[in-house]
Amino acid sequence: MIETKFKFSKNDVVIVLTGAGISAESGLKTFRDHDGLWENHKVDEVATPEAFKCDPELVWRFYKQRYFQLAEVKPNPGHLALKKLEDFLGNNFMLITQNVDGLHEQAGNERILEMHGSLRDCFCTKFGTNFKMQDVDLNPAVPLCKECGAALRPDIVWFGEIPYYMNEIDLVLKQADYFLVIGTSGIVQPAASLAYLARMNGAKTIGVNLVPPENMMFIDEFHQGRSGEILPELVEKWIG
Ligand code: APR
Repeated sequence: MIETKFKFSKNDVVIVLTGAGISAESGLKTFRDHDGLWENHKVDEVATPEAFKCDPELVWRFYKQRYFQLAEVKPNPGHLALKKLEDFLGNNFMLITQNVDGLHEQAGNERILEMHGSLRDCFCTKFGTNFKMQDVDLNPAVPLCKECGAALRPDIVWFGEIPYYMNEIDLVLKQADYFLVIGTSGIVQPAASLAYLARMNGAKTIGVNLVPPENMMFIDEFHQGRSGEILPELVEKWIG
């Protein structure tokens, strides 16, 4: 039985930040857990602009593999609970995600800010033209722009690059009554600081994670465990 001291009304503004942990129960690897993606791949070789410059084929291999895996996974009860929360709160809800897997959208959420990009998108390295992966010929080791022939790159925010939607995130953090942090280790900036900023702005912060995250000191109420198991019950309690 899960206990929470909070109850949301439709007038409350609830902002959610998710990380790889929420998709773990869908079968996607997290980054920093045992057997996580960064245990089997070197960050410097696949997730920096320098890596792409040095070996674009290796980088594309990594992201193509992750993109193709999306066909095999579906949202889990943790994602579905957040869809329920958005249905209840409407425009007072915003979901900031570091995930690039699109599972929140698949679950039916609409108010989403994908701050680290998306595995389903790529763009031209010469002119910045955006393409859906599904419309691109992924057979070449480095897929090419069909308009100008330049190399395409995955639309992923790599280490050393600035995340998307920072202005929008700044704005919603100022309005937040509650800030939920789910399935993220609290290590990677700037996402790791959002709980702190929300709290500075007066929001109550709630965490759901398998283990206490690095930014635990900014969390007012923490629920330890799997988000797919805990969130459905918590959401019922918050909005019930
Ligand atoms: N339910 C809840 N939390 C879970 C679950 C689960 N079922 N399984 C794992 N976790 C927790 C882990 O304990 C860990 O604290 O999720 C967290 C995942 O942390 P990371 O692997 O560091 O992933 P994330 O925080 O999303 O990484 C941030 O780093 O590599 C970059 O750009 C990448 O977006 C990513 C960013």
